[in-house]
Amino acid sequence: MGAFPATRMRRLRQSDWTRRLVRERHVTPDDLVWSVVVTDSGKDRDPVGAMPGVERFSVKELVKEAKIARDLGIPAIAMFPHIDPAKKDEHGTEALNPDGLVPTAIKAIKDAVPDIGIICDVALDPFTSHGHDGVLKDGVILNDETVERLVEQALVQARAGCDVIAPSDMMDGRIGAVRDALEGDGHTDTLILSYAAKYASGFYGPYREAIGSAGVLTGDKKTYQMDPGNISEALREVELDLAEGADMVMVKPGLPYLDIVKFVSDTFAVPVLAFQVSGEYAMIEAAAANGWIDGDRVMLETLLAFRRAGASGIVTYFAPRAARLLNG
Ligand code: PBG
Repeated sequence: MGAFPATRMRRLRQSDWTRRLVRERHVTPDDLVWSVVVTDSGKDRDPVGAMPGVERFSVKELVKEAKIARDLGIPAIAMFPHIDPAKKDEHGTEALNPDGLVPTAIKAIKDAVPDIGIICDVALDPFTSHGHDGVLKDGVILNDETVERLVEQALVQARAGCDVIAPSDMMDGRIGAVRDALEGDGHTDTLILSYAAKYASGFYGPYREAIGSAGVLTGDKKTYQMDPGNISEALREVELDLAEGADMVMVKPGLPYLDIVKFVSDTFAVPVLAFQVSGEYAMIEAAAANGWIDGDRVMLETLLAFRRAGASGIVTYFAPRAARLLNG
């Protein structure tokens, strides 16, 4: 390597064409999964206070939005339910209802827009009266009892036509149990995206408002979600979930855990997705609304950062906005 002045790093930066020619990483609409909230409130569009620009959609409206996303080139949507609080109970029974909001939405989208992928969260928190992802007894989240319910929830989703089952609950052994159940029920091609490295994070705050679990959540999720200080534990979690039958793994939250995205993608030859969660969205939007940053520019820069760290895809509330900008 020559030294200055034989080497001038700025030569390659001098014009748009040189910068484009040597750019090492790219983000395209193909890399995006749109996270959406579906509601049975009766309103077609219902704004989420802590996430300006994000609305909960009725099933009918979500079908229209899924078409738009498909036309923008977005490969898949990840769906999260906001249900009538009257339907919540201690065991999250509504999660197992084959005629519930999620299976109804899956069928409606698959009917109208069969070529967009549908990813469904497997966890009980949108359905429990206490806001936890599992079965709560005497202040403890019961692992094995929860897994039994998650398996049923996953089967309800797969039977409705869900393409990707995405357990986000962090119970031990759930990926193997869900995979066995899918094989046993004839869903041999249903994908599993495991939220393998999911941290107990303050960045989920606005999401809990979005699905209506903010007011009800008692305590925190630290006995099942990972401690933010841990690195090697994330690799163990990923290794186990792959051994149990996951096709893809997720790291969550996203940008604050970019080191984990990089470690996981360097270590395992599987697709790694990163979740740009609700709090990350809210921070960008809040700063942009104050005129402190250029929101579109910062948003695209964060998406590229995920790609640089090795993410195959990014789950983000920004997906349609980003796709519009990227499509020019
Ligand atoms: C829970 C779940 C959470 C998110 C997705 N699934 C929150 C939590 O674990 O409390 C967070 C998504 C976001 O913040 O955007 N199963």
